[in-house]
Amino acid sequence: MSIFTQLEDLYKRKVLRQGRDRWNYQYAAGRWDNLADLNELSRFSVIVGYAQHLKPQGSILELGAGPGVLVQRFDKSKYGRYLVTDLSDVAIEAARAELADEKTFFEVADMNTYQPKEKFDVIIINEAIYYAPSVQAALDRFAPYLNEGGIFIVSINDDGGRNAKWHVEMDACSYQKIDQTTVSTNKNTFVISVLGA
Ligand SMILES: C[S@@+](CC[C@H](N)C(=O)[O-])C[C@H]1O[C@@H](n2cnc3c(N)ncnc32)[C@H](O)[C@@H]1O
Repeated sequence: MSIFTQLEDLYKRKVLRQGRDRWNYQYAAGRWDNLADLNELSRFSVIVGYAQHLKPQGSILELGAGPGVLVQRFDKSKYGRYLVTDLSDVAIEAARAELADEKTFFEVADMNTYQPKEKFDVIIINEAIYYAPSVQAALDRFAPYLNEGGIFIVSINDDGGRNAKWHVEMDACSYQKIDQTTVSTNKNTFVISVLGA
């Protein structure tokens, strides 16, 4: 690596901290440890409930999964196969070391370029759709990777207006709205949508 590349790398990691570098830095610093807190449980529970009820023994792809908190909330006997993906290799490597087994897999993947090698019954985007260009673009990108009758489950934080664009886009997107649940905790409100292709 040339000195220029090293300096550029250092600048990106330490000063700009963009994209993967930024997320890696935040995960390594423990900035997202609170995802495992009790006041995050209700949104995870609603997503798990939808997936297990609508697609028992289904195959699941999760995009922007971070350190894999959601997969830990599933009853392992109730999914067929679960692929946990995220942009951050720090988050994915830590999760893989702790959670990988014969039907739970981990892959570093940028949801804006990732091309899965298989199709799934459920595709979950849990508090991560903000890193796609739009709701419609994200769902269009992954619709070809849903099995016949497959579903999307998407959680969008309702934080008093900051995410208004994403809620408007969810309402306007072309996918069939199967159901929607809003969960409120003492800290946050989340709108969880189930969509068909
Ligand atoms: C707010 S965290 C949510 C983590 C997890 N889904 C949860 O709710 O516990 C957002 C996650 O999106 C990931 N992310 C950001 N941009 C991404 C991209 N382009 N492709 C995939 N994941 C991305 C981050 O690394 C981070 O783990």
